[in-house]
Formats: sequence, C-alpha cells, structure tokens
Amino acid sequence: MTGAICPGSFDPVTNGHLDVISRAAAQFDEVIVTVMINKSKKGLFTIEERIDMIERATAHLPGVRVTAWHGLLVDYAKEQGITAIIKGLRGANDFDYELQMAQMNQKLSGVDTLFIPTNPTYSYLSSSLVKEVATFGGDVTGMLPDEVQERLLARVAQRAADNA
Ligand code: PNS
Repeated sequence: MTGAICPGSFDPVTNGHLDVISRAAAQFDEVIVTVMINKSKKGLFTIEERIDMIERATAHLPGVRVTAWHGLLVDYAKEQGITAIIKGLRGANDFDYELQMAQMNQKLSGVDTLFIPTNPTYSYLSSSLVKEVATFGGDVTGMLPDEVQERLLARVAQRAADNA
C-alpha cells in the first residue's frame, strides 16, 4: 500500500489545494491531508473548521483522510509510516521555498518530497490572497468550493462587524 501526506495551513482550503490533493489521490492508495498547527499564527478559521471544510470537499475522493498535527511534519510522517510528502508548485517562488524545506525534511528523516505542478488555472491562487480579496469585497467565485466560499464570506462579514 502506498501513502503520502499533503500538509499545509489550509486557512481555508482552495480549489488549487483540491487539484493537488485529487491528483495525489490518483497516484497513492492513501493520502493524508494534514492541517499543520502553528500556534504563533492566528488563523481566520479554527483547525476544526479547516478539517471540516477539507473533509467535505474531499468526501468523493477514495483513500483521502484529513488530520491535524502540531510539531515537525517528518515526525508525523514517521509515526504514520509514510515516506512521501506531496507539495504543489505554483512557480519559481514556491520552488525556492519548497526545495529548502524538502531538503531539510529529507536530511532530518529520509522522507522525500514529491512536487505536483499546479494546474495553471489555479497558479495565481493562495489562501492568503483569497482572504484579502474577500475582506475587501472582491469576487472570489471559482477560487474555492462553494461551501468554503460561503463560510469565508460569512467569516469576513462577521470580522468586519466585530471591528465596526
Ligand atoms: O500552507 P503552508 O503554510 O505553505 O504550509 C507550510 C507547512 C505548514 C507545510 C510547513 O511550514 C511545515 O511543514 N510546517 C511544519 C513544521 C515543520 O516540519 N517545519 C520544518 C520544515 S523543513
């Protein structure tokens, strides 16, 4: 049985993430989508909300399960008996950053990183940009699953009301 981990912040999951997850699921028997917990970074969504959104968006994909982890990614990979990390690459900036992490993870543990080039349809997408656009009232249609878009618009409206 082959398995891989797709790690990320997923605050929230985008259609770009889902493209990479679904392509990973086509290559591996099991794909663990892991929401990495960063206690020093306050997200827009809680870890539980992020997991729920990913679970709903990947329910149709066989072999995909969603978890969370706090600490080194490679420790989780070893705990799960997984030897491959999957990352999407949008372009050269991603590559520089991801290469360094991949080499560090390989040095630490022997766990290798496999890169999936992002579908060009989504290469401009990031959770941070989508949140910023939504916060300022821009149209994020097509960038997120419909349900995630509804939850994002509700959350930014709530934040705006709280800060008014
Ligand atoms: O979605 P992101 O924020 O680009 O994901 C980055 C993430 C969370 C996958 C990366 O920062 C990570 O793996 N963090 C876990 C802690 C860790 O293992 N750090 C060493 C990386 S070499």
